[in-house]
Amino acid sequence: MAIITLKDVNKVYRTKEIETLALENVNLKIQKGEFVSIMGPSGCGKSTLLNIIGLLDVPTSGTITIMDDTTGKMNDSQLSSFRNRNIGFVFQSFHLIPSLNVAENVALPLAYRSGVSAKERHEKVAEVLTRLGLSHRMRHFPGQLSGGQCQRVAIARAIIGDPQIVLADEPTGNLDSKMGQEVMDILHQLNKEDGRTIVMVTHNESQARMTDRIVRFFDGRQVE
Ligand SMILES: Nc1ncnc2c1ncn2[C@@H]1O[C@H](COP(=O)(O)OP(=O)(O)O)[C@@H](O)[C@H]1O
Ligand SMILES: [Mg+2]
Repeated sequence: MAIITLKDVNKVYRTKEIETLALENVNLKIQKGEFVSIMGPSGCGKSTLLNIIGLLDVPTSGTITIMDDTTGKMNDSQLSSFRNRNIGFVFQSFHLIPSLNVAENVALPLAYRSGVSAKERHEKVAEVLTRLGLSHRMRHFPGQLSGGQCQRVAIARAIIGDPQIVLADEPTGNLDSKMGQEVMDILHQLNKEDGRTIVMVTHNESQARMTDRIVRFFDGRQVE
């Protein structure tokens, strides 16, 4: 069963001087529970693809279907709510909020969700931080953590709302190989133990070979 389907997706960025075709006629199906790697040279459209799958950006043409919902007809607030429930994001540079401590960063997705009490939020934060080995860092600020710890906080934030889909854009790109391996182990756990569908952009062939499938891009086109 496909959980993510892209049909004839094109993305054109227009600025005053230039027009960039960032994605050209992309057709892609990702199955529920699959761990897919996206590879290709810098500028080939990988982040654009992930942002479109994650409903952070919209295609210029074509359709995105996620869990039977075609997203093209949703308004902004429907998109935010859908994204909040179903999609977790992990970025290369962590995107943590420096003025919030670890627990506050991790709690953010639940703060935007109606019907979650403060008590439930605290319990859930404690649970995911324990799982990621960070319960002793709850009151630390991002600036006081190593890169690997920051990425684990970002993963905790990505999964606290229990999304079925986790999107990771070069999640180990800013980490040394040991910390990168820790992050990869966690992503594999989220896939194998929780059954989450994972789409990861990576430049690392050996990481990619550990996933179910590699999709390669070149100049906005899917080449393999
Ligand atoms: N917001 C934007 N405005 C204009 N051009 C963009 C924008 N985002 C990306 N691009 C262009 O689209 C292409 C694909 O970018 P991107 O998806 O970031 O590639 P990758 O992640 O594979 O390095 C590049 O040529 C890039 O310069
Ligand atoms: Mg990118």
